[in-house]
Amino acid sequence: MDHFLYRNGILHAEDVSLPEIAAAVGTPFYVYSTATLERHFRLFQEALSPLDHLVCFAVKSNGNIAVLKTLARLGAGMDVVSIGEYLRAKAAGVPGDRIVFSGVGKTREEMRMALEGGIRQFNVESEPELRALSEVAKSLGATAPITIRVNPDVDARTHEKIATGKKENKFGIPIERAREVYAEAACLPGIEVVGIDVHIGSQLTELEPFEQAYLKVAELTAVLRADGHEIRRLDLGGGLGIPYTRSNEAPPLPLDYGALIKRTVGHLGCEVEIEPGRLISGNAGLLVASVIYLKHGEGRDFLILDAAMNDLVRPSMYGAHHDIVPVIEPAPGVDQQPYDIVGPVCETGDTFARARPLPPVGEGDLVAFRSAGAYGAAMASEYNARPLIPEVLVHGQQFAVIRERPTYDEMINRDRLPAWL
Ligand code: LLP
Repeated sequence: MDHFLYRNGILHAEDVSLPEIAAAVGTPFYVYSTATLERHFRLFQEALSPLDHLVCFAVKSNGNIAVLKTLARLGAGMDVVSIGEYLRAKAAGVPGDRIVFSGVGKTREEMRMALEGGIRQFNVESEPELRALSEVAKSLGATAPITIRVNPDVDARTHEKIATGKKENKFGIPIERAREVYAEAACLPGIEVVGIDVHIGSQLTELEPFEQAYLKVAELTAVLRADGHEIRRLDLGGGLGIPYTRSNEAPPLPLDYGALIKRTVGHLGCEVEIEPGRLISGNAGLLVASVIYLKHGEGRDFLILDAAMNDLVRPSMYGAHHDIVPVIEPAPGVDQQPYDIVGPVCETGDTFARARPLPPVGEGDLVAFRSAGAYGAAMASEYNARPLIPEVLVHGQQFAVIRERPTYDEMINRDRLPAWL
């Protein structure tokens, strides 16, 4: 459920009409709903209670500090994968002891900054990383709390580019080798083992792969405890999928996911962390664009928008589907017709949808992409010298620009001419 509904025939974000925002900031823009963000976060809180738990929002899905602060105010922790994301979480007021640091390629500099700024734990993904962290912590006279991310060799049954839990993926340490790596970790100076981490992929639409992975983690917990390690925390990753179409998709609910967690690891007495991104932010955001031209092509009509693949890359990168709806509600029973919905970028990959049925739309009309709050703005680029688009946060009847559209000068003046030019 989200808070983007038609009222009096006009699509609203909570109590604010989208044409009003468009008039204030211009198109294209992203808009997020506070109520939806909060609702989704609370679903996880409820699903995990009464377990001792921390819901760490995956900053990579939407790193705007206003979004982070909205969630942090409700008690969210953060899952970060770079020191940039760490600093975003800090800028949103999240204390270090609520930030977990994931990722396969943390640099020594990132480790140092996180240790100095305060960190809940590092989710370590390889032996070289473990040794580097030990050296950095030792040099600072600090202790780094760690989990080791294990790769359970489970098929997440999702898009191949976002599956992470198979042994051929670059992530984690093969679960069969976990005992030797934990043994090494226990002997390294500056390292304190606190638990186990696993994350098998994103946009999972079934619970079964989670179950397989979490059962393996439960088994490993017993083995590692018998080896003498103190396993008091389990980080179970993110990945719960969302419906991208309104009609036929029904991915598992957070409540069922929570029940699964309790069933598989609840008896271990561990504090449980999860790292959801998409389920919290995805359906809390829209991308709103204007139709520049309606172009009649060979046997097809192209709807050319002012948003492009640089603003929302998911359709061209993963073949992802986003529902696209007119901001002015079509009259009931109006005939739909197929459009190829495209952006202005100079490649055929800049196509959002082919032969997508829509009620008749024309130049200047506003359309909204649903489910764009996760991995939308976060993955945007300036390709084709198109400045990053603004982000707007709605809260009831209020809205605020939470990232401004840069001017062309600001974009261009980041470049420098060398002396010989
Ligand atoms: N934790 C770790 C370690 C992750 O790698 C990810 C996502 C998450 C948590 C959050 O997963 P979520 O709950 O959002 O599924 N750009 C792609 C998604 C990439 C996900 C990468 N890792 C997309 O647009 O579909």
